[in-house]
Amino acid sequence: MLFYFSGTGNTRWVAQFLAQELNDTLRFIPDEIGGEMHYKLKEGERLGFVFPCYGWGVPPFVERFIEQVRIEHVEYLYFITTCGDDTGMTAEIFCNDVARKGWTCTMGYAVQMPESYVCLPGFDVDPKEKEQQKLINAISRVNQIVDDIIDGRGGFDTIPGRFAWVKSHIIRPFFNRFLVTPKYFKTTDACVGCGKCVQACPYQNILLNAVNHPEWGTSCVQCMRCYHQCPQHAIEWGVFTKNKGQYLFKEPQTSNV
Ligand SMILES: Cc1cc2nc3c(=O)[nH]c(=O)nc-3n(C[C@H](O)[C@H](O)[C@H](O)COP(=O)(O)O)c2cc1C
Repeated sequence: MLFYFSGTGNTRWVAQFLAQELNDTLRFIPDEIGGEMHYKLKEGERLGFVFPCYGWGVPPFVERFIEQVRIEHVEYLYFITTCGDDTGMTAEIFCNDVARKGWTCTMGYAVQMPESYVCLPGFDVDPKEKEQQKLINAISRVNQIVDDIIDGRGGFDTIPGRFAWVKSHIIRPFFNRFLVTPKYFKTTDACVGCGKCVQACPYQNILLNAVNHPEWGTSCVQCMRCYHQCPQHAIEWGVFTKNKGQYLFKEPQTSNV
């Protein structure tokens, strides 16, 4: 069984590839919330969590899901995190999260993929060439991950990067407390009220108001899908997304390489 979340599509692609190659059941975390959240694994069945790295750690809503879910017969547990750059101490954070459930994480890998974070200065989507290169590298990476999972291999191969401890233990709590919030979302005059953002939000957190402009509710997880999906590029978050790019996952064009 494989639980996943994805905002802009990177992690969905990884999760779908894994589920197909491993013949596993795929479950999208937002679809599971509100349900029974009680699962029984079959004998020998693996349990995987596949999520984007947010703020150099496991996204808080994924941590909440892990805390609340009931899963029986957990034997082999792994995680895959996709990231734009580096993962800090995501492996340790995930291992601690699942240890609180009495589970042991056997394997954890990171896959570097195109950047989706644009809310702060210095963060933007990747230039097209870099985006393509990351996607092409990701193909061999996910193939290697599948082989390692099939072999039942253990160990961690993430991308901690520089100052991993500071990022995950000092900046991350600040990030989760103050920067994971819908309150800075707004639209520019370019908004035509098409409602694409409403359909795109994985948490159904956006509604159109009486004048056909989006309003964000309180269950935003900051995946930025609405911002990246907007056909008019009319959604902004605070003051720093102005003039930033948009990104949604598309299959890499390997024939050009
Ligand atoms: C709120 C937020 C926080 C992020 N934090 C990190 C991070 O700490 N390190 C990193 O390398 N990438 C970070 N990213 C980039 C994403 O992890 C990366 O682009 C990921 O592949 C997006 O997955 P998705 O397309 O499935 O949503 C962040 C993106 C968002 C939206």
